[in-house]
Amino acid sequence: MRHFLTLKDLTPAECQQLMTRATELKEIQKSGEIFEPLKNKTLAMIFEKASTRTRVSFEIGMTQLGGHALFLSPRDTQLGRGEPIEDSARVISSMADGIMIRTFGHDIVKTFAANSSVPVINALTDDFHPCQLLADMQTYQENRGSIQGKTVVWVGDGNNMCHSYINAAAQYGFNLRIAAPEGYDPNMDLLNANKHCAEIIRDPMEASTGADLIVTDVWASMGQEDEQKKREVAFKDYQVTQKMMAQANKEAAFLHCLPAHRGEEVAADVIDAKDSLVWQGAENRLHAQKALLEFLMA
Ligand code: CP
Ligand code: NVA
Repeated sequence: MRHFLTLKDLTPAECQQLMTRATELKEIQKSGEIFEPLKNKTLAMIFEKASTRTRVSFEIGMTQLGGHALFLSPRDTQLGRGEPIEDSARVISSMADGIMIRTFGHDIVKTFAANSSVPVINALTDDFHPCQLLADMQTYQENRGSIQGKTVVWVGDGNNMCHSYINAAAQYGFNLRIAAPEGYDPNMDLLNANKHCAEIIRDPMEASTGADLIVTDVWASMGQEDEQKKREVAFKDYQVTQKMMAQANKEAAFLHCLPAHRGEEVAADVIDAKDSLVWQGAENRLHAQKALLEFLMA
């Protein structure tokens, strides 16, 4: 039995294998072929934070694989009334075939997994968002080929997405430059453990020079809404603009996990460019996670 709490729960070979499989599953679905390896299986989905893409992709993914997805929010379950994580994990896993959780502290998914008898998937915590990376890596590969040896630049907050990019640098073999303003660095233990593939280059224009992929995310993540104003000041020079993209290689791609704030972390003409990969990246959440569900639950 395997869990997927961070990208480090897979081997680099498994990361590659899931990516290839995601593209295959995408072709199967687009051809109209019915493929139902998870018939009669149920994925319990616990959302303690809001979501559009994650919920839609996991729920539709389970339907397409022949199974069922069960949406659980703390508002309507005993989790919201303080039932221990350990007890909830034991009970839900005694009935469901897999559990997906989006929550705050990363410790919550770790505790959940430690007490679950079925695979647990991290669908975003304050520290990591590995499912998004499966889709981002697939999207890059489908459009630009292998990411191995390429230069990826993270612009903005050293947040959950940035942490998952650090893990991805190690797992998929690219070099990551992190352009974050002072005071918003990623976790230093994680960065130090991945010194061979990730570094901080504070100036985003300098960092973007010769980049193959530029990625950003919101300045204030879920749970940080009251810091929005303060962060708008701290991050004002960290908007991904056409000028920044022009510093990068000619074929450089731009990705954003969404939801996006145009005029804050990204200029509208970058995210809405005719050849923007952002929308394909969002769709690939479906295909990448179907590959993950098949891998963990079939
Ligand atoms: N990118 C992402 O996880 O989107 P949602 O918050 O809408 O699920
Ligand atoms: N960093 C963002 C990602 C949303 C998908 C957040 O945690 O809100």
